[in-house]
Amino acid sequence: MRWSGLFVLLFLVYHVLDLTIGTLHPSSVAPFQAGQPYANVVGDFRIGFVALIYALAVGLLGLHLNHGIWSFFQTLGLTRSRGGRRLRAAATAVAVALTAGNVLIPLAVLAGVVR
Ligand code: HEM
Repeated sequence: MRWSGLFVLLFLVYHVLDLTIGTLHPSSVAPFQAGQPYANVVGDFRIGFVALIYALAVGLLGLHLNHGIWSFFQTLGLTRSRGGRRLRAAATAVAVALTAGNVLIPLAVLAGVVR
């Protein structure tokens, strides 16, 4: 949890420098364009290495959330009740859905579905 949290924080710094400010945006395929997030995302993920970084980062975020959502329920004292197992499943379902949605973005660009 600690390591995945630290990695997500580092990813966030890289991510803002890449897609919001543009200083770390790879300009070899398409230069960063202020106010054009769609073009910047597509330019990013046409580079396999960048797509891989994002896929790994959102995967780790998924693991972090899976544990974090469960811990949230635990803090509220809900996990000892009879519905505890269902809450465990709900935490995992939310984490899997978010991860799948996030991973689809770089994959869709790499596959040429989003251009
Ligand atoms: C494949 C996944 C992702 C894509 C394609 C994506 C895309 C973007 C884009 C295009 C921007 C710039 C928006 C703008 O300049 O108007 C942005 C900003 C941002 N993203 Fe992401 N993002 C992704 C994942 C994430 C994740 C996992 C987090 C949080 C853990 C995150 C947090 C942020 C934050 C805090 C900003 C800065 C706020 C802003 O510029 O509006 N993003 N993202």
